[in-house]
Amino acid sequence: MKDHLTIVDHPLVQHKLTLMRDVGTSTAVFRQLLREISHLLAYEVTRELKMTTREIETPLTKMNAPVLDGPKLALVSILRAGNGLLDGMLDLIPSARVGFVGLYRDEETLKPVQYYCKLPSGLNRRLVIAVDPMLATGNSSAAAIDLIKEQGATDIRFLCLLAAPEGVARMKEAHPDVPVVTAALDEKLNEVGYIMPGLGDAGDRMFGTK
Ligand code: URA
Repeated sequence: MKDHLTIVDHPLVQHKLTLMRDVGTSTAVFRQLLREISHLLAYEVTRELKMTTREIETPLTKMNAPVLDGPKLALVSILRAGNGLLDGMLDLIPSARVGFVGLYRDEETLKPVQYYCKLPSGLNRRLVIAVDPMLATGNSSAAAIDLIKEQGATDIRFLCLLAAPEGVARMKEAHPDVPVVTAALDEKLNEVGYIMPGLGDAGDRMFGTK
């Protein structure tokens, strides 16, 4: 990917995102929409995967047909909201290796605190796609990418649903080599670090915890 920031402005993505933003959307529908959007975002973020060919036989003849090349890619979910994007990604890429990074945001400092990290082996050979629906301050995302790089990854992408300009700038400063793919770039963060206009707390909305 050439650009640091890619906004997926496909009409289906934008329509589904509007439904997700709506405060009247139920938990069940929110989760279903997130799964559907993650299919469309997965399509975009994997557009440049390496390909090779394999000889197969159709019912009529032999052919060299395209297949994905290289080691299985790795998906890393930034807990807990990342799991909402992860499920849909795995629908499309079922053989991906999966890692989890647990970070929570200290509500006073807005700084990330790590409580869990389990990553697949061989990250130096894999494309790694880190997923978290909300790129807000960028502090947790940048910290998660630090952990992924510490395990040797060099080819990393960050996939989110909504990004704030502050988060995009933070990621660009900390990890200029990591392209960010999002469905929308919102206006700003509010005083407590929520994306405006946003969709509220993604974890609460997908798991019904509020
Ligand atoms: N995390 C969320 O879930 N929502 C925001 O708006 C910001 C961070």
